[in-house]
Amino acid sequence: MSVRNWGMVGGGKGSQIGGAHRIGSSMDGAFRLAAGALDVDPKAGRRYAMSLGVPRDRAYGTWSDMLEGERDREDGIELVTIATPNATHYEIAQAFLKAGIHVLCEKPLTMTIKEAISLEVLAEKNNCVLAVNFGYTGYPMVREARAMVRRGKLGAIRLVVAEFAHGHHADASDADNPRVRWRYDPSQAGVSSVLADCGIHALQMAEWVTGQRSTELSAHFLSAIPSRDLEDDAAVQISMDGGATCRLWSSAVALGHQHGLTLQVFGEKGGISWAQEHPNQLLYTPLNKPTRIVERGSPGLHKDTVESTRIAVGHPEGMVSAFANVYRDLAGALDGKSAALDRLPSAADGVAMVRAVTAAAKSAKTRGRWVSV
Ligand SMILES: NC(=O)c1ccc[n+]([C@@H]2O[C@H](COP(=O)([O-])OP(=O)(O)OC[C@H]3O[C@@H](n4cnc5c(N)ncnc54)[C@H](O)[C@@H]3O)[C@@H](O)[C@H]2O)c1
Repeated sequence: MSVRNWGMVGGGKGSQIGGAHRIGSSMDGAFRLAAGALDVDPKAGRRYAMSLGVPRDRAYGTWSDMLEGERDREDGIELVTIATPNATHYEIAQAFLKAGIHVLCEKPLTMTIKEAISLEVLAEKNNCVLAVNFGYTGYPMVREARAMVRRGKLGAIRLVVAEFAHGHHADASDADNPRVRWRYDPSQAGVSSVLADCGIHALQMAEWVTGQRSTELSAHFLSAIPSRDLEDDAAVQISMDGGATCRLWSSAVALGHQHGLTLQVFGEKGGISWAQEHPNQLLYTPLNKPTRIVERGSPGLHKDTVESTRIAVGHPEGMVSAFANVYRDLAGALDGKSAALDRLPSAADGVAMVRAVTAAAKSAKTRGRWVSV
């Protein structure tokens, strides 16, 4: 596997997600952090990039300087990861795609459907990979769940219950924390907070595992902390194009919930259940048979699951390994491997989730009227 030059925008010191990208991208030696504009504060960003080993002349103060500096270099970056607050994704992704640089963008892809579609079209036109970091699809047992649905082990899917409900924004006095503040500011977060921030991970996983897209939904948003302009709790009922119904709950005020991401899929022939805090086990209940624990690393699993497993059975394997699987698939996608492309959370997923969030915000404003996605 050749080592590709890789750059990051955002993900600076102390950011929530920057470190997971750096660890994940380095696990297979497929990417080298060659350039970065890591922080909204140019000086802090340059300093931090250099502390991570980025050469001085490629530790940029702004993403536009980075684009100018990298686009014509012989050894310029091939892939950029965008890990900045949501409102900036569109402008940055558009600029890098226009320069022919592949993009892994953090979710949500953009603030509007129009922007999301335009990025999808631009990527295709410029022969670029545009992936969206729905990184939980990198977990081996989420891949096993998808393989089980594809092989018909559950039969026709009737019901999906997806949750991403945590309790880490439950403290009203934490409103000025910079990592919390932007998430509830419509100018930076868009039309939705917790659904766009967390709920879409659960919904994307529901769509990715079942192979069904959302068609219509009814949403209820709550600002449990009333000073917030955007919701900190959302409940959404969704009709999916393959006939399933999805019930989605996302929250930031579910005190006691830590990460709170779970997926349950119920079909005519069986049900499965997965929880991100116990990622190595998938519970599988065939109709009229006892529940089985399907353990990561055990025999008989799908080849996607086996290939995604990095550590021997019984040892914990987690989120950064899942991100590493996304980066490995990115490397595969850049080499034109169709299996890698099939696994990669795609621009189409990014567009679908922006559509869902937009529809949910619209529905919530009318006390849950059903809205087309
Ligand atoms: N996929 C996941 O599991 C996951 C998890 C958390 C966050 N996210 C997404 O990642 C993005 C960042 O979230 P976070 O929680 O890390 O936020 P954060 O506030 O913790 O960090 C944001 C980082 O971006 C930098 N930044 C802001 N504007 C910038 C600019 N114009 N140029 C360069 N750097 C800039 C900030 O200085 C900071 O280092 C968001 O879109 C969020 O939705 C994804």
